[in-house]
This record gives sequence, C-alpha cells and structure tokens, in this order.
Amino acid sequence: MAFCLAENVGATVTGVEYSGSLVTLARHRSEMKSLTDKVTFMEKDMRKLDFEPQSFDAILFWGSLVHVNAEDYLPMFRKAYDWLKPGGRLVMQGLIKSESDGTVTQEFKDYITRMCYKPITYSECLQFLSSSGLQLLEFKHRRDFYVQDSADTLDKVKKNWHKIITNVSKETLEKTVSIWEEKRRWAEDGALYICLLLAQRPLQEE
Ligand SMILES: C[S@@+](CC[C@H](N)C(=O)[O-])C[C@H]1O[C@@H](n2cnc3c(N)ncnc32)[C@H](O)[C@@H]1O
Repeated sequence: MAFCLAENVGATVTGVEYSGSLVTLARHRSEMKSLTDKVTFMEKDMRKLDFEPQSFDAILFWGSLVHVNAEDYLPMFRKAYDWLKPGGRLVMQGLIKSESDGTVTQEFKDYITRMCYKPITYSECLQFLSSSGLQLLEFKHRRDFYVQDSADTLDKVKKNWHKIITNVSKETLEKTVSIWEEKRRWAEDGALYICLLLAQRPLQEE
C-alpha cells in the first residue's frame, strides 16, 4: 500500500511495521523501486509512535488494528486525530467481527487466538471513532469481497502446490491450505468480514 500511494498519487509515505523482517523486506523493495526518497519504513509498535501534531494529510490503518486489543483502538484513533491536519483523512481497512452472539463459539475463539486476531464489532469501532473526535464519512462492509478473496487465494495456493512443496515444504503447503480454508469458512459464515472505513478530522474544532 505504501508503494501504491507513492507510485500512483505521488505521496510521501512513512510506513510503520512491528516485524523487523517485514521492514527489511519493505526497505529492500523500496530500493528496488527507486522509491527511497518517497517511502520510508519504521520498525515500531504503532501504539508507541510519536509524531508532531498535524504532521499528516492521511493516515491508513491497513489490516493492522485487528492485532491490537480493543482498549488500544480509542488511543490509536485519538493519536490519528492529533497527527492529522484539519480536514485530513483516516482510512482503515480491517477485520470486523459480527455483532451476532451466534459466532462466539469456542471454535471461533480458538481460531482468532491462533491467528492473533482481536477483532471488535462495527458498533464498538464506531463508538471509539466518535469518542476520538474523528467524523465518519463512509463505512463499507466487504463481506462478499472477503469470501471471494479467501476462495481465490485458496485456489492459487492449490494450483501452486508443486512449487510450494519444492521451494518450501509439504508442511507449509498443508498449513497454508488449512488456514485459508478456515478463513473462507468464517468469511462465508459472516463471523468475520473486511470493512473499509473513511473518516476525517473536522476542518474546525467543535
Ligand atoms: C494484515 S498485515 C498488513 C500488512 C500491511 N499493512 C499491508 O497492507 O501489506 C498486518 C500487519 O500488522 C503488523 N502489526 C501488528 N501489530 C502491530 C503493531 N502493534 N504495530 C505495528 N505493526 C503491527 C503485523 O506485523 C502485520 O505485518
């Protein structure tokens, strides 16, 4: 996403990632794409970030908030408010869990623990957002996309089984297939879905 923003809209991007190996990979890609002047990466826990107020036109939480605890959402939204310029946009893409009690089975709990997911519900998300002072502009449920994306990825993994076994291992292939089968099942069930949220820091303080 960092490269996409730099390449397509000319944005200057600061990417933040917890995992050192992913940061190394991202920096390598940045060099390969000759984008080191436009895209920089920090290896950091986003909950411990500190930027000057009003430093950014836009902030993206791209698939990352599902890994933090529910109590971290409001502080992260408040920080985003603070770091955004007035009128600046927050974009969040992430996993949201269904409001329905039916999905809170032990099997579902085991799955999200294994995946290190800590999803909150749509209404919790909106509550945290409005408490932070950010204004919701748009919220899209992308359940169908999640179902399709899980099915497509599973197809791709299955089609490339020979390459994966040769280049990685049979165990990795089996584990990957089982993860994506489970993902697809929970997506079809509606227990988890991808949402796309767009919010803004109001132009004028209330
Ligand atoms: C689904 S991946 C998305 C990666 C990337 N944003 C992208 O779109 O390709 C979620 C990422 O969030 C990172 N992450 C999880 N908790 C984090 C934290 N507290 N601070 C920074 N990054 C975190 C994980 O290491 C993982 O790489």
